[in-house]
Amino acid sequence: MAIGGAKNNLTFQTRATACFSVCFDRCGPSEHTVLQMRGHLKVSFFATGGKAMNPRIAKILKETQFNSPLRRYFFPRYAYNFTPPQLGFLCQCIEDTRDVDGAIAEVGCFDGSATVFLNKYMDAKGIEKDYFAIDTFAGFVAEDVRVEVDDRGKNRSMYNGFQSNKQKWFDGTMAQNGITRVRSIQADVNEYDLTSLKKLSFCLLDVDLYRPIKKSLHELYEILSPGGIIVIDDCDPSNAFWDGADQAYKEFMDEKNESRRIVHNKLGVIRKIH
Ligand SMILES: C[S@@+](CC[C@H](N)C(=O)[O-])C[C@H]1O[C@@H](n2cnc3c(N)ncnc32)[C@H](O)[C@@H]1O
Repeated sequence: MAIGGAKNNLTFQTRATACFSVCFDRCGPSEHTVLQMRGHLKVSFFATGGKAMNPRIAKILKETQFNSPLRRYFFPRYAYNFTPPQLGFLCQCIEDTRDVDGAIAEVGCFDGSATVFLNKYMDAKGIEKDYFAIDTFAGFVAEDVRVEVDDRGKNRSMYNGFQSNKQKWFDGTMAQNGITRVRSIQADVNEYDLTSLKKLSFCLLDVDLYRPIKKSLHELYEILSPGGIIVIDDCDPSNAFWDGADQAYKEFMDEKNESRRIVHNKLGVIRKIH
């Protein structure tokens, strides 16, 4: 019985490995591919026909993966764009605004790693609100990059990231994690009317570049409820890639005559009092 089960598992493992290869060849080792690989890996080891794999065979397979050049895709890696204290701060903001009227928005959500983390926090703390996740799901838009290059003296090649993405993959990641409150919206924030989100209690604004942040801040602030918080990522003037976020945040706070507050090295904070 154990031997038969192991054979079935080996067949499954072979299929899963083939699937890794196709995925890897087509997409390259994007973060999403990594997530898919991890998903398949978990299936191949732990969920084959409802039976656990023979532990000795599982260990041999895992050792093979450990010794392969793809090791980094099979073993846990830190999956977040934020440090643990930064994630803790974002959770604290959600906690502090739990009784503030309005939904939560993440403007710039990429593959959903922070979305999953923050929604798991909401689940654990019994916080039930709509959560909007907005992204092009295709990386930066040409006009935003043009502003970085022509007006802010940056090199175009700095802004090729985040292109390997799809709204369908993001939605699948939410479903895979049992998250149902998130509504994804595929849009360029320069074109999208963010005030259509109606009322917000908390927003993470994480679109990296000057132009989309400057435009978004005005609309997000307009619909932020009293007591609500907006956090802008990348407010770090020493970061040559993303210092447009810092510039947009500082200009906005100066226009509003509000004092700037940047915590955990790069999180710009806006709290609306009235
Ligand atoms: C740093 S990533 C977001 C990371 C995400 N918040 C997380 O922590 O997992 C920045 C995202 O902003 C998106 N983005 C950049 N410019 C945008 C624009 N004009 N409109 C919508 N999304 C944009 C990119 O596609 C990218 O996915």
